[in-house]
Amino acid sequence: MDRYGVFGNPIGHSKSPLIHRLFAEQTGQDLTYEALPAPLEDFPGYARAFFETGRGGNVTVPFKEEAYRLADELSERARRAGAVNTLKKLDEGRLLGDNTDGAGLVRDLTVNAGLDLADKRILLLGAGGAVRGVLEPLLAERPQSLTIANRTVEKAEQLAREFADLGPVAAAGFDWLSEPVDLIVNGTSASLVGELPPLDPSLIRPGHTVCYDMMYGKEPTAFNRWAAGHGAARCLDGLGMLVEQAAEAFFVWRGVRPDGAPVLAELRRQLG
Ligand SMILES: NC(=O)c1ccc[n+]([C@@H]2O[C@H](COP(=O)([O-])OP(=O)(O)OC[C@H]3O[C@@H](n4cnc5c(N)ncnc54)[C@H](OP(=O)(O)O)[C@@H]3O)[C@@H](O)[C@H]2O)c1
Repeated sequence: MDRYGVFGNPIGHSKSPLIHRLFAEQTGQDLTYEALPAPLEDFPGYARAFFETGRGGNVTVPFKEEAYRLADELSERARRAGAVNTLKKLDEGRLLGDNTDGAGLVRDLTVNAGLDLADKRILLLGAGGAVRGVLEPLLAERPQSLTIANRTVEKAEQLAREFADLGPVAAAGFDWLSEPVDLIVNGTSASLVGELPPLDPSLIRPGHTVCYDMMYGKEPTAFNRWAAGHGAARCLDGLGMLVEQAAEAFFVWRGVRPDGAPVLAELRRQLG
């Protein structure tokens, strides 16, 4: 059986083995998928040993940048992201590095949530790895504007410069913003500690603005509670992004695209 897995440290909490087992069942693909606890001091050695027999791997915290350096070839979206979350062994034994996080977010927004991002005003909060990874696929949807707002404004400005060739991208500090937008995506890690960036509620047009937190949990995140309290039309979380980035990786490896919706429903059921 073809062997796959997810590299991370720690990795015991990962939902990826369950997601890929469900995808394999759904599509009739014969494969195994395991959690791969790579040591912090030697990710490359561990990964190379796995790929003596393994066909593909996902990569999560804290190895996405190391995986970027390990790959022999990079997809354009991985090159832009500066990070790799999907490795695939090519026929000659070389490793292809890809990044499916942004495609996962866009698919969750456009297919699962049914949003059309063309000509929309999008506000992206944060300027870390997650935001860098979603910029190229979001700009490919041709929004009217995409503003990156970050606590450390210089990081947002740096990203805006790097991606300026792909669309109308601008940078801001949180307190520079007050005009309502169509979509706010929270890509900060503030929710992880129950915090919220200092945002002006007038960014939300009640009944119209959609809010999306890349973070997810059993209870609504601090950001989504704030959004609901100010009348956001919808408050979505990142569980769908997690499932859809996995579906995209499965497609990269197997050439078969699983349906994310039933897997997302099962994860939501288990979470609740
Ligand atoms: N659903 C998914 O599949 C998925 C995939 C990837 C990531 N994520 C989520 O995305 C989030 C960000 O991950 P990352 O890898 O980009 O992290 P990261 O590289 O460490 O970046 C963290 C970002 O959050 C900002 N930040 C941290 N604490 C803040 C606070 N209290 N107030 C305002 N801003 C704050 C940082 O601002 P400074 O630059 O000023 O420090 C930085 O922009 C995490 O919650 C992660 O779980 C979800």
